[in-house]
Amino acid sequence: MTFGLILAVQATCRALAVCHPKGYPPGVILVVGGAGFIGSHMVRALHQAGEDVLVLDNLEKGHLAALRGAPLVKADLRDRGALDQVFSDHDIEAVLHFAAYIEVGESVQNPARYYENNVLGSLNLAQAAVTAGVKQFVFSSTAAVYGEPVEVPIPEGHPKKPTNPYGNTKLAVERMLRDFDPAYGLKSVCLRYFNAAGSDPDGTIGEDHRPETHLIPRILLHLLGQGDFKVFGNDYDTPDGTCVRDYVHVVDLATAHLLALRYLRDGGRSSVFNLGNGQGHSVNQVLEAVRIVTGLPLHPQVVPRRPGDPARLVASSDRARSVLGWEPQFSGLETMIAHAWAWTSQHPNGYPD
Ligand SMILES: NC(=O)c1ccc[n+]([C@@H]2O[C@H](COP(=O)([O-])OP(=O)(O)OC[C@H]3O[C@@H](n4cnc5c(N)ncnc54)[C@H](O)[C@@H]3O)[C@@H](O)[C@H]2O)c1
Repeated sequence: MTFGLILAVQATCRALAVCHPKGYPPGVILVVGGAGFIGSHMVRALHQAGEDVLVLDNLEKGHLAALRGAPLVKADLRDRGALDQVFSDHDIEAVLHFAAYIEVGESVQNPARYYENNVLGSLNLAQAAVTAGVKQFVFSSTAAVYGEPVEVPIPEGHPKKPTNPYGNTKLAVERMLRDFDPAYGLKSVCLRYFNAAGSDPDGTIGEDHRPETHLIPRILLHLLGQGDFKVFGNDYDTPDGTCVRDYVHVVDLATAHLLALRYLRDGGRSSVFNLGNGQGHSVNQVLEAVRIVTGLPLHPQVVPRRPGDPARLVASSDRARSVLGWEPQFSGLETMIAHAWAWTSQHPNGYPD
């Protein structure tokens, strides 16, 4: 089938409301922050699911090339007027909100910048959505809302004590959304990701944060001669002394959002779900998996611990599995690294823009 024909079939399906088994009303899915790492994988997953997509991004951290032609409104969340214009110009059914500043260290240095973008920006977006009569909202939250764990694997009901401003801003937005449901009827799902990793298996889109602070891309970039890489502490109370994290494939995160959207369309209550594989991998295990996948030697420097890094962060994602029916497809660490390597080795300088 040609691309034009596919579009025509999708348009007809939508007009007849038969694309969705339950006849959901047609409408555009607004992907806010869709030019970023996780958002761009979401845009691809929505296209594959036959949804109508519109991206809103200011491109400050995202990349035009990551959109691969998806429609974009270049606008900033801190500009409420621009948001109202987008909602009045388009028939938006649901909002998937990925946009935020995400660097923990920077949030400690400059919390005001984080509160303004992550909290005020999200307030603007939620208010614009409510004003336009949008009822469904999915928010990208994080394991950082828990802080130092008192129980591992971490369930959603675990105490929320973020240890940095980034985590505080994410928790503030979760609480705002919780209050918006009874007051304004905005149904929301907050998805608390653990460590997002991997890339689309075809290697055409991937992770390109500037600066890159995440472990796996930092190691891969180091192998390609781009920047250094250090192990922060090997004296933690873990089997090999290095920090343990729960890595979750970015394509599995996108799938969880599709399921969250279906859950809200089916009348699901506002809710919160962890997204992780329930399996921890230490920094040393990640290094070993990188050696296996790339076949390249690695001799990282070990330096003292960073303040505020918990020894183990591992999710219990039982709720997402039982309520949303989420089944991660790419849970193997080597698979995530192989997909990330397919992207990074072909794009050592990231996106061209
Ligand atoms: N990457 C992870 O491991 C991880 C883990 C937990 C939670 N999260 C959350 O997932 C979301 C996406 O993370 P990511 O890694 O894709 O980040 P990213 O930086 O790659 O993407 C964020 C996107 O939002 C856009 N954006 C930021 N502020 C904006 C504003 N004011 N107006 C319009 N657009 C704006 C950026 O330009 C960028 O395209 C974030 O909310 C983050 O807190 C990420």
